[in-house]
Amino acid sequence: MELAFVTSNTGKVEEARKYFEPLGVRVYRLPVAYPEIQADTLEEVALFGVEWLAKKIKGPFFLDDSGLFVEALSGFPGVYSAYVYRTLGIEGLLKLMEGVENRKAHFRSVIAYWDGEAHLFTGRVDGEITNAPMGTEGFGFDPIFKPEGFDRTFAQMTTAEKNTISHRGRALRAFADWLKENLK
Ligand code: IMP
Repeated sequence: MELAFVTSNTGKVEEARKYFEPLGVRVYRLPVAYPEIQADTLEEVALFGVEWLAKKIKGPFFLDDSGLFVEALSGFPGVYSAYVYRTLGIEGLLKLMEGVENRKAHFRSVIAYWDGEAHLFTGRVDGEITNAPMGTEGFGFDPIFKPEGFDRTFAQMTTAEKNTISHRGRALRAFADWLKENLK
């Protein structure tokens, strides 16, 4: 079986392949742009995207909408994470956090799979924002996010290690488990 992952992000595809290869499912990247609506939740953004794309794409596909939620910033950048990463970047976010003691943050990921109808899978990882970027692996805010129980950032981990604990890894695991049951 082949499964299209609609994303411009090759890092996300690399993470997904590790879950689906063992199931004999080939994941390939489909770089189709879709509108990311302004909404309060990742679920709404993902659902709108998948329903919009369903009119254009034949065959099963999925997308992922994720974000970084910083407690001291009332959940910002959250659903605006991609925009904030593009504009303020890591340095900009660290500036917003200057002098802020509460460094707690979490990543959430919502995967929306379309096979004629939409199925949503979610994952979350808690951690904290570091004072400075560390590491070169991964993408996005990885260099400043240290998951709970670790003294390294996501950018100091291999993809396999990040997958075992990350928001997307957890959502992908739920999706892969569901697919295994439903492909029977
Ligand atoms: P989107 O899901 O493509 O809308 O992007 C969300 C944004 O959140 C990305 O641009 C990244 O900056 C950030 N993000 C999402 N997942 C991760 C991750 O696993 N590591 C680091 N940053 C992430």
